[in-house]
Amino acid sequence: MKRRQLGVTIVGAGSTRTPALIGSLINYKDRFPLRKLILFDIDKSRMEVQEDYIRLTMEKYCPDVELEFTDNEDEAYIDIDYVFVQMRVGGFEMRRHDERIPLKYGLIGQETCGPGGFAYGMRSIKPMIHMVEKIREYNKDAWILNYTNPAAIVGLALAKVFPHDDKILNMCDQPYSMIKSFAKILDVDMYDIEPRYFGLNHFGWFTKLYHGKTGEDLLPKLKEHLVDHEFKPFNAEQRDQSWLDTYKNVNRMMKFFPEYLPNTYLQYYFFADDIAKASDPNFTRADEATRGREKQVLDICKQARDQQSLDGIPLLIGEVHGNMMVEVAESIAFDLKKVFILMGTNKGRKIIPNMPEDAFVEVAGELTKDGAMLYPYGEIKTFYKGLMETQHAYEKLTVESCLESNYQKALEGLTLNRAIADPDKAKAVLDDLMEANKDYWYLK
Ligand code: NAD
Ligand code: G6P
Ligand code: MN
Repeated sequence: MKRRQLGVTIVGAGSTRTPALIGSLINYKDRFPLRKLILFDIDKSRMEVQEDYIRLTMEKYCPDVELEFTDNEDEAYIDIDYVFVQMRVGGFEMRRHDERIPLKYGLIGQETCGPGGFAYGMRSIKPMIHMVEKIREYNKDAWILNYTNPAAIVGLALAKVFPHDDKILNMCDQPYSMIKSFAKILDVDMYDIEPRYFGLNHFGWFTKLYHGKTGEDLLPKLKEHLVDHEFKPFNAEQRDQSWLDTYKNVNRMMKFFPEYLPNTYLQYYFFADDIAKASDPNFTRADEATRGREKQVLDICKQARDQQSLDGIPLLIGEVHGNMMVEVAESIAFDLKKVFILMGTNKGRKIIPNMPEDAFVEVAGELTKDGAMLYPYGEIKTFYKGLMETQHAYEKLTVESCLESNYQKALEGLTLNRAIADPDKAKAVLDDLMEANKDYWYLK
């Protein structure tokens, strides 16, 4: 049966991830047919530099799809079915502050973890709430698929403010990205791997990797391999030096805690001091991404703009971020019940019975026409529970601090964060971040 055609809005369409996301939409156009694509960003200039490449690409591969670029939020959500959200409030300029300021205090400089993640969360929450309100003003039914980071904090905040809106889903592509690498090592199709996982976003563990056809758990085999083989990213999006170092730290974490396979982001909590010491405050991931992905994409867009054709220009495809976004939407749209690593509240303690009810947990689950069906995981062991409860308390205090403009809660949260821990440092970095973010948030 022919699948129905869908309308999509991309929020934060000025992201240099957008051309590859559109490549993924093209790649999957038979599985997820489009009728309309709206590109929305508050910064028109960021979209303009990519507009010709996107137009030419859509004309070539999807000429019948209605294509619209807008910086008007009152036009962005009319008559569409899905909103893909990838905004970065404050842009790369603020990402640089998130990554550099903590390093002054010997703390990790990371966009989603530690003090940088906190500052970014404080910037993201209110614009995200505003966006959801705007979408619902024009569109009661659209699925809101959010990737905006820090997804742990944004997700928790949206669940608190919109507890009855069950068409908001917060997603992360790092587990998907890791599964891609597992599959390569294990020499199986990544779509045959059915993972089991528990944690919070950027703070979790793979516990099983079932082969969908044979039922065998492949995790023991993978763990055995990783004892004497470096873990390497097998996707084009994570080949820069900092990502190679990050994947290597999975081997290091497993030397201490070999039971499960940790998400790469846990490195920032276990090896915070080492990572901070090894970081160059004048060249953080933001700089690496600017010189890498941003430059590659903007050069291609410029070439398309100059020559007004796609001659000699490749179709960019989002091997991880883009493909996953479309597969997620596809599974919902056509009730495919595909398994992903998903986030949601632990309401009624149904997912992890020995974690707080309001924890925003991340586990395996199915995506159906009714949304995310998280698989109940069961109780977790003391070590992981201890780590997760502290992290959850940090996330919760951050959300409350933002919604109440409460300085004390921010200080408490940052002190709980394992990547910080010291209240002297927590206060110093908080004050510095607050000054750098004064156009975005202020606490009393
Ligand atoms: P980017 O800075 O290149 O692009 C983000 C765009 O968002 C910019 O063009 C900016 O103008 C726009 N923007 C800012 N505020 C906005 C608002 N209020 N409404 C609409 N647009 C707004 O960022 P990027 O590095 O491509 O990342 C985009 C987002 O996706 C970030 O939040 C990033 O952390 C996130 N991300 C998440 C995952 C995940 O696993 N969840 C994976 C990849 C990227
Ligand atoms: C992974 C994470 C995302 C994060 C991204 C950063 O995909 O899951 O949450 O935004 O990495 O990538 P970048 O290339 O911008 O450093
Ligand atoms: Mn993520």
